[in-house]
Amino acid sequence: MAVREILPDIYWIGAIDWDRRLFDALIPLPEGTSYNAYLVKGSEKTALIDTVDPSKEFEYVCNLVKAGIESVDYIIVNHAEQDHSGSLPMAAELFPRAQIVVSEKCRDLVQSLLEIPPERCLVVKDRDTISLGNKTLEFIMAPWVHWPETMLTYLQEDHVLFSCDLFGSHRATSDLFVDDIREIYHSAKRYYAEIMMPFRSNIRDHLAILTSCDIRIIAPSHGPLYQPPDPILAAYRDWISDEVKNEVVIIYVSMHGSTEKMVNHFAGALMERNVSVRIFNLAVSDIGEIAMSLVDAATIVIGTPTMLFGPHPLAANAAYITNLIRPKTKFAAVIGSYGWGGNTVETLKGMLSRLNAEMLDPVYVKGIPDQACLRELETMADTIVRKHREIAVSSQQAG
Ligand SMILES: Cc1cc2nc3c(=O)[nH]c(=O)nc-3n(C[C@H](O)[C@H](O)[C@H](O)COP(=O)(O)O)c2cc1C
Ligand SMILES: [Fe+2]
Ligand SMILES: [Fe+2]
Repeated sequence: MAVREILPDIYWIGAIDWDRRLFDALIPLPEGTSYNAYLVKGSEKTALIDTVDPSKEFEYVCNLVKAGIESVDYIIVNHAEQDHSGSLPMAAELFPRAQIVVSEKCRDLVQSLLEIPPERCLVVKDRDTISLGNKTLEFIMAPWVHWPETMLTYLQEDHVLFSCDLFGSHRATSDLFVDDIREIYHSAKRYYAEIMMPFRSNIRDHLAILTSCDIRIIAPSHGPLYQPPDPILAAYRDWISDEVKNEVVIIYVSMHGSTEKMVNHFAGALMERNVSVRIFNLAVSDIGEIAMSLVDAATIVIGTPTMLFGPHPLAANAAYITNLIRPKTKFAAVIGSYGWGGNTVETLKGMLSRLNAEMLDPVYVKGIPDQACLRELETMADTIVRKHREIAVSSQQAG
């Protein structure tokens, strides 16, 4: 446990979870994570910003003791999700006079998820402020980053944005600040893909609002802080833009090798046509890596055999997740192999309905891929080259 000064009277008092390996019972955490919580001491009043995951409650209390905090006036809850507010009931009990500062929606959620009585809450609206004496906290409502109740807290005098999950990264590290964006880029992009990507258009609006603040430090709820914030803001602008790369992500599963043969031939054809390819065998792949690769690829291709009249369950799961995270992918296709019949292609198409992507003609073959099938895959590669060129041309014209 550690109390770390960010600026005079502004401290990190969170917890690092070095060995957590799974989040939301779904997302692999190869690098662990941190639950960042903050302490702001004004000349007259003291505020806590967020708490930590309940598994780290003890460390959080130790940090409060270490920081010499005897009384707290406000506990700011940017987000009701338990990785940040799970220790709120304990903090509320520890500081019975503290008001719990929340958005209106968050008041509902902390009541239903954490049994915080609504009368403990001070509801704030967009751009409301609270004075701590020489420091002013301003609240910026940021719904759907990534929950409906989310707000960000901006410390005006010090130009620090406590950005909640926005700009976060699942990385356990002793580095308080990011030194070089290249060190954290992969983790931050992965976090964006897993958590933020479904809300791309909301984030675009929020980024526009944030540019009006003179932010000098971004203090997210996971991973290291950014000073200056420009590199992560630039990365986010890139990820949320409509621009896609000349890249095909192929996610596939194969029980007996036919689909795999198709994938390999197809990937070779794409590479020979100067299209970047990323291949993920679903039997051994990390779903977070797949999500990350989908952030800016122009095309996704799902390869699956037919199993019990539909897609292999791993392919169905990957399609379901892709549909949830809604990458900006412009084209999609299904390839694979079957034995006697089923509804694989139609089922997968239906599962990708929320993707704003044009479905290309499938290549779906009976048994082992023959020469005709391999030629069809080459034709699909030609189509993709043409389609990618068309969108590159149209985006140049639009620009
Ligand atoms: C457990 C299992 C269930 C299957 N169910 C179907 C099915 O419902 N319909 C079908 O056309 N083929 C079915 N097949 C056959 C496979 O789709 C076929 O063998 C295909 O070529 C396998 O492709 P792969 O080599 O990429 O695994 C099934 C195969 C297995 C092993
Ligand atoms: Fe969250
Ligand atoms: Fe979080």
